[in-house]
Amino acid sequence: MARKKVTVVGAGNVGATTALWLASRELADVVLTDVVEGVPEGKALDMLEAMPILGSDVTVTGDNDYAPTANSDIVVITAGFPRKPGMSRDDLLKKNYEIVGATVRKVVALSPNSILILVTNPLDAMAQAAYKLSKFSRNRVIGMAGVLDSARFASFIAAELRVSVKDINAFVLGGHGDTMVPLPRYSTVSGIPITDLLPAETIARLVQRTRDGGAEIVKHLKTGSAFYAPSAAVAAMVEAILQDQGRILPCAAYLEGEYGLEGVFAGVPCKLGARGIEDVVQIQLTAQEQAELRHSADAVRALVAALGV
Ligand code: NAI
Ligand code: 2OP
Repeated sequence: MARKKVTVVGAGNVGATTALWLASRELADVVLTDVVEGVPEGKALDMLEAMPILGSDVTVTGDNDYAPTANSDIVVITAGFPRKPGMSRDDLLKKNYEIVGATVRKVVALSPNSILILVTNPLDAMAQAAYKLSKFSRNRVIGMAGVLDSARFASFIAAELRVSVKDINAFVLGGHGDTMVPLPRYSTVSGIPITDLLPAETIARLVQRTRDGGAEIVKHLKTGSAFYAPSAAVAAMVEAILQDQGRILPCAAYLEGEYGLEGVFAGVPCKLGARGIEDVVQIQLTAQEQAELRHSADAVRALVAALGV
C-alpha cells in the first residue's frame, strides 16, 4: 500500500516541528513548502537524514514550488506570521488572510481530495476563509486549536493535582482566543470531574492561565509564539485521520446548527477519522457555557465579517 502524503505549508517553527513529529512517527511522506528560498529544502533534508537514526522509512522533501505537494492526503497550513509581544491574534487577521488565501488556492488545485488542517491565526477566521475559498465539504476543513488549548489546561491540572497527564482529559471549546471556553465539568482525572477535586478559585486560576496560555509563551520567547505543543496537537489530529482512529478531539469546525450556531467556525468536540470530521459531537451545556460559546462564536463572526468571507 502506498504511503500517505502530508504537505505542511510554512516551514517555520510550527510547520517544521509538525513535519518532524509526523516523519519521526512514520505517519506519512512529508512535503514541506515555504516562500523563503532554501529553508524548506534544507530543513526537509536535515529531517530526512534523521530518519535512519529514528528508524522511520518515510521521505521528507522541501520546495518553494507547490508541484511536489500534488495529491496530498492532508495539507497542514501554518504559513503566516506569528504573534509578537503585545500583538493580539486578531492583529494578524488581514496579513495572514492574504497568505492563507493564496496558499489554499494552490493546494486545492493540486490536491482536490485532501483534508485541510488550518493552524495560521487568527485560527477560526482562517479556517472559515479556507472553507469558503476551497469549496470543500465541511468535514474536510478543520482548524487546530482545541487540542492545544485542552493540552495546556491538562498540563496545568496535572501540575496542580500532582497526577499523571495520562489520566487527564481536559476540554476546551469555542474560538482560539480570549473568549475560548474551558469546560471544567467535562475535564476529568480518570473520569472524575475536576470540579470534584479542586476548589472553584483554583479552577478559575487554571482556566485563566489556559486562556492566556499562548500569550504566556510569547512573553517568554519575545520573538515568536509557541510551537512544540501546537505541532504536537496537529500531529495528533493527522494521526487520528490517517489511521481512521475515530478519536473525539476538540477541533474548529464549520457549524450548521450544532450548538445553536449556524455558518461559523468554532471549537467543538469532533470525531476524527478517515473522512476528516466524521461527526460533530453535541454535549449538554449549561446556559452559562452555551452563552460563553455563543459569545466566542460572535467574536469569530466579527473577524469573518471584516474579511468579507
Ligand atoms: P513562523 O514565522 O516560525 O513560520 C511561519 C512560516 O510561514 C515562515 O517560515 C514563513 O516564511 C512562511 N510563510 C509566509 N508566507 C508564506 C506563504 N505565502 N507561503 C508559504 N509559507 C509562507 O511562525 P510559526 O510559529 O510557525 O506560526 C505559524 C502560524 O501559526 C502563525 O500564524 C501563528 O500565530 C499560528 N499558530 C497557531 C496556533 C493555533 O493554536 N492555531 C498555535 C501556534 C501558532
Ligand atoms: C498559541 O496559542 C499563538 O495561537 C498561538 O500559542
